[in-house]
Amino acid sequence: PQVTVIDHPLVQHKLTIMRDKSTSTAGFRQLLREIAMLLCYEATRDLTLEMVEIETPLMPMRAPMLSGKKLVFAPILRAGEGLLDGMLDLVPAARVAHVGLYRDPKTLSAVEYYFKAPDDMGDRRVIVLDPMLATANSAIAAVDRLKEAGSTDMRFVCLLAAPEGIDNFHGHHPEVPIVTAAIDEALNDHGYIVPGLGDAGDRMFG
Ligand code: PRP
Repeated sequence: PQVTVIDHPLVQHKLTIMRDKSTSTAGFRQLLREIAMLLCYEATRDLTLEMVEIETPLMPMRAPMLSGKKLVFAPILRAGEGLLDGMLDLVPAARVAHVGLYRDPKTLSAVEYYFKAPDDMGDRRVIVLDPMLATANSAIAAVDRLKEAGSTDMRFVCLLAAPEGIDNFHGHHPEVPIVTAAIDEALNDHGYIVPGLGDAGDRMFG
């Protein structure tokens, strides 16, 4: 199973500001959008290219363009929505699948309340988005649901992951690579990542 930690200085700097509890809602949202672009850049590194014929103002040439599968971004609501805009800034033609899940505060299991995906999921690469991979129950449920909808080629992109969440996720979906900005120490008794950044959904939306 593959886990990539994006240790780019811009990502690390922005993440530290997001962790700081004095950062405002507006600041948090803006930073998440910016980090999303950088995570998208890394998560799309292995997209395939093909050579096409074009003409520059000076002469014809063969030049690389994206080929192969088109992308779908699949944000896990609500907090995943915060990563979506930055991703779409870089890949404006991508489609979007919405996965509505909330975590039952007592059992920490994921409860689905919404699912809407394009109908050609099997032909696309899916990038699942959620800032937090805590117990991973939400991410596992989202990938289960996306597989049910036909997806076979997926990546999971988050901002913070707990070691327990990574193990649990790859126990269920070993073939889905994880891209994250950091791996934190642990989960606390309430299933929060510590030191973490708090509840991403609440910090973004209230
Ligand atoms: C939070 C977070 C993730 C999930 C992570 O969502 O945004 O979706 O918990 O936890 P897990 O890995 O243990 O499943 P929450 O249920 O608070 O919903 P929200 O995004 O709507 O705030």
